[in-house]
Amino acid sequence: MSRTARRGIERPPAFIYREQRSGLLRRKSESLALFCDEIPLQRLADSFGTPLYVYSATAIRERLQIFRHAFRRVPHTICYSVKANSSLGILRLIGAAGCGFDVVSGGEMERVLRVDRCAAKRVVFSGVGKTSEEMTAALKVRILLFNVESESELWALAECAARSKEKARIALRVNPDVPANTHPYISTGLQQHKFGVPIGEARKLYAQAAGNRYLEVAGVSVHIGSQISEVDPFSAAMERVADLVRELRRDGHRIDYIDAGGGLGIAYDQSESDDFEVSAGEYAEGLLRPLRGLRVHLLLEPGRAIVGPAGALLTHVLYRKTNKDKKFVVVDAAMNDFLRPSLYEAYHEIVPLRFRKQDALEKVDVVGPVCESGDFFARDRALPVTSEGDVFAILDAGAYGMALASNYNTRPRPAEVLVDGGSVRVIRRRETISDLLRGES
Ligand code: LLP
Repeated sequence: MSRTARRGIERPPAFIYREQRSGLLRRKSESLALFCDEIPLQRLADSFGTPLYVYSATAIRERLQIFRHAFRRVPHTICYSVKANSSLGILRLIGAAGCGFDVVSGGEMERVLRVDRCAAKRVVFSGVGKTSEEMTAALKVRILLFNVESESELWALAECAARSKEKARIALRVNPDVPANTHPYISTGLQQHKFGVPIGEARKLYAQAAGNRYLEVAGVSVHIGSQISEVDPFSAAMERVADLVRELRRDGHRIDYIDAGGGLGIAYDQSESDDFEVSAGEYAEGLLRPLRGLRVHLLLEPGRAIVGPAGALLTHVLYRKTNKDKKFVVVDAAMNDFLRPSLYEAYHEIVPLRFRKQDALEKVDVVGPVCESGDFFARDRALPVTSEGDVFAILDAGAYGMALASNYNTRPRPAEVLVDGGSVRVIRRRETISDLLRGES
């Protein structure tokens, strides 16, 4: 644990251990307390209950700033990928920082419009299965760009545009057939994946699109996957896209935009280095090198890299139990609240809200109450010995945490709070069982 705790102390800036002073004499307490910005997390757990998602507004703003700085040399728009965390409070914060949005459904688009009616001009719409209703709604608010993923979709979009008497600005999402070293479920840039049109067939489709008066060819888009920590796959994909853009321009198309997608990974295991300035800088360099001399407006769709490390899930220990020599810590959060460990066997740091240097370690499985053996947050993990009632923070849960939460086992989803320096705002109240039953008969 000392390793984790030390890392915790060093961990800038969202969740850090600090010394706490208490009593009349303001004596230093023996234990360190985990804070989000200026707020001790134990106070949030006491006030709002658990499971509870906590986000640092400061960290989100700072990460956006770092990301933007990395691309400062080229015209670009950050279209934050809404799927990573679509809570209105988070979207409002990101919109206020001047970002656009990448949406993949009518529902996500509606969320964006709820926080800012004028944001449509900064919205790109991706996804392999857009319905006519969704495309028509997006045409009506005149979004920036449709990232079209198949020939059939192209004609369906043209039809919707004709019916709406609007022109659809399009990019084809090309599949560059580039491998990315990530979990197979979130790798998208290979020919065997359902995403995009094969890059070799793109020119033909662009030519057809250009002949339709309801379609306006405007860009090329690509996204090779998520949680990618090496730069080379991004560069390789960009090289192919850059070649295509040159060809398309020779063919007479006007290509103003390249949408580079998202996918930049974060360090979930704190033994890996997590200097975002460095990783964002290398990522930008890797994307921009192949684009030199092209003069395009770059669209970027980061999700995880912006919100992942800015969020944690607080959960308290319900029970301790042992099955022979196996020790379990049963917590009140479960796979329905936070799916990543169950779905991808993803590693997340789990740290206690109060930490004493002298605390002994024990190897435990941290598991939830859902009736599946796959309902775990950690297996055989060395954690400080905890008692029932103690609270843990599951770190780096800001992306694909609440967004993937469900009501499995008829469990209401957690509340979410946004901390901004010394202030705390509930951005989503805890669901109730009545919320869940509403709409059923
Ligand atoms: N753009 C497109 C077209 C995408 O499909 C995605 C993610 C992104 C942008 C944002 O990628 P990011 O920057 O967040 O890596 N549930 C999984 C991740 C699924 C990602 C799906 N697409 C997880 O928890 O790891």
